[in-house]
Amino acid sequence: MPRSLTDSWTLGGVAIANRLVLAPLAGIGNWFVRLQAKRYGAGLAVSEMVSSFAVHYRNERTCRELLRIHPDEHPVSVQLFGHDPAVMASAAERVAAAGADLIDINMGCPVPKVCKTGAGAALLEEPARAVALAQAAARGSGLPVTVKLRSGLRPGDRRGVEVARRLAFEAGVAGVCLHPRHASQRHSGSPDYDLVGSLASELPVPVLVSGGLQSAESVRLAFSQTGAEGVLLARGSLGNPWLFSELLGRSDGPPEREAILAELDWVIARACEHLGPQRAARYLRKFYPWYVERLGGGKALQAAIQQCSSVDDARALLVGEVAAFV
Ligand SMILES: Cc1cc2nc3c(=O)[nH]c(=O)nc-3n(C[C@H](O)[C@H](O)[C@H](O)COP(=O)(O)O)c2cc1C
Repeated sequence: MPRSLTDSWTLGGVAIANRLVLAPLAGIGNWFVRLQAKRYGAGLAVSEMVSSFAVHYRNERTCRELLRIHPDEHPVSVQLFGHDPAVMASAAERVAAAGADLIDINMGCPVPKVCKTGAGAALLEEPARAVALAQAAARGSGLPVTVKLRSGLRPGDRRGVEVARRLAFEAGVAGVCLHPRHASQRHSGSPDYDLVGSLASELPVPVLVSGGLQSAESVRLAFSQTGAEGVLLARGSLGNPWLFSELLGRSDGPPEREAILAELDWVIARACEHLGPQRAARYLRKFYPWYVERLGGGKALQAAIQQCSSVDDARALLVGEVAAFV
């Protein structure tokens, strides 16, 4: 039987309904974005990356906002970043107490602010530390631990593959997600899916693929080409939870305007619940363009919605726009 994106599977003993995973997205992947992905069918959702130091030192906002888990979003994985195994173990314990089902460790972030602390993609240069971090997270939390990493740091560098092997064979991680672009590429350039394919055939644990998965067609292609156990939807999912339902065969065609507006309204309401209306008004400026573009709104609407100082103004603008369109 050919493998299907709708097949169930297990990751470190956690049952997952299908092969679609919401990728970690910094500044975006909070509880309601993950819940939204779940509503549209995602089998698993991963949180935005969370500082292990902030959790260890009980930073109030980090713990309240980034470790918030909604009862309906399970199974959920919380992604931690950091470079200190003792701190990682302590943070992982706190993440388990917050209700996560899995922990993912970020070994792929290319941002200098993160790498200069020895975390993120910088860990590809320190395989022994990478192994120690994964072991510490498992010890601290008692949860299955996965790692998301890059193929390397620079063009031609394959250290990520070697680190992935050590994580699977020495650290005993439950799974590995490979984003087969080197860190200096950031998010551009073609992912090298062959690397994922060879890793998937070699490792004794599930290998997932991330990178370049922005349309249903590209997701299906990468899933069949790599033999990966699952796919992580990242930029393709921004303001587009419909990508999950499309891939699962649960929708026929793109959403109607009413459905897009209703979804944006849901997002606005959840953001207010999460941050209060004032902070939500600023936070949502990142989210509006994805939905406005899908609504076919032009530059004028994009600019106007960015100027809104309250969520009520944004809602009024959207309602007016729809009235004008109809
Ligand atoms: C805005 C943004 C935030 C991201 N934040 C994280 C993160 O917190 N942790 C992580 O491991 N990867 C992060 N990534 C990388 C994505 O999870 C994914 O690997 C990458 O976007 C490649 O997939 P794509 O080409 O399908 O978008 C982020 C990417 C974007 C665009």
